[in-house]
Amino acid sequence: MANSTLEPAGSAAAPPPRSKPSLAQAFGNIFSKSEDSDEGKVIARRRKFVMAAVLGTLGVNLLMFLRFFFPRALYEPKTKFRIGYPGDFGFGVDTKFQNQYRIWVVRNTEGIFVISAICTHLGCTPDWKASENKFKCPCHGSGYDPEGVNFEGPAPRPMDRAHVELDPEGQIVVDLSHVYRWPKGEPSQFNDPGAIIRV
Ligand code: FES
Repeated sequence: MANSTLEPAGSAAAPPPRSKPSLAQAFGNIFSKSEDSDEGKVIARRRKFVMAAVLGTLGVNLLMFLRFFFPRALYEPKTKFRIGYPGDFGFGVDTKFQNQYRIWVVRNTEGIFVISAICTHLGCTPDWKASENKFKCPCHGSGYDPEGVNFEGPAPRPMDRAHVELDPEGQIVVDLSHVYRWPKGEPSQFNDPGAIIRV
């Protein structure tokens, strides 16, 4: 007798459905397999190298981006400034502003003037030698008298003098952007208005 529960001829029992691995499992398998083998170690090293290159590039780009927020400004020392009252300066050479402004303030019988402390040979800063009553350049030996006039060494002319004037309060204002010169073989500008304060 035919069994009514028999499967139809030609049909086979369906295999149990296979569960699909999750994405995380799939990648986990790949990584764990690959890192166990030599090839996997090479891949891991390459991956680190690529990550480092990407992070490095991002870092450089970030720095370039941040650079835009900072102005390309040169902070130069002030060229116009006050140095005090004429009564603050006695006769002779005053060196108290040499480091701050690179000047000397000189008072003589004619008035007060300001020498720019730059050697006219190649631009070094001479030293004031009070015991020798002269400026001496340490670079090539040029010598200048107390008024900044050259008398020895390779300096071609006296040191320049800065523009000076009194402000409404009576303080001396120095302007280094405007200087007076005495070029070799030419008339001196040292008596021009603004080259000296007559006191
Ligand atoms: S720079 Fe002063 S003597 Fe040369």
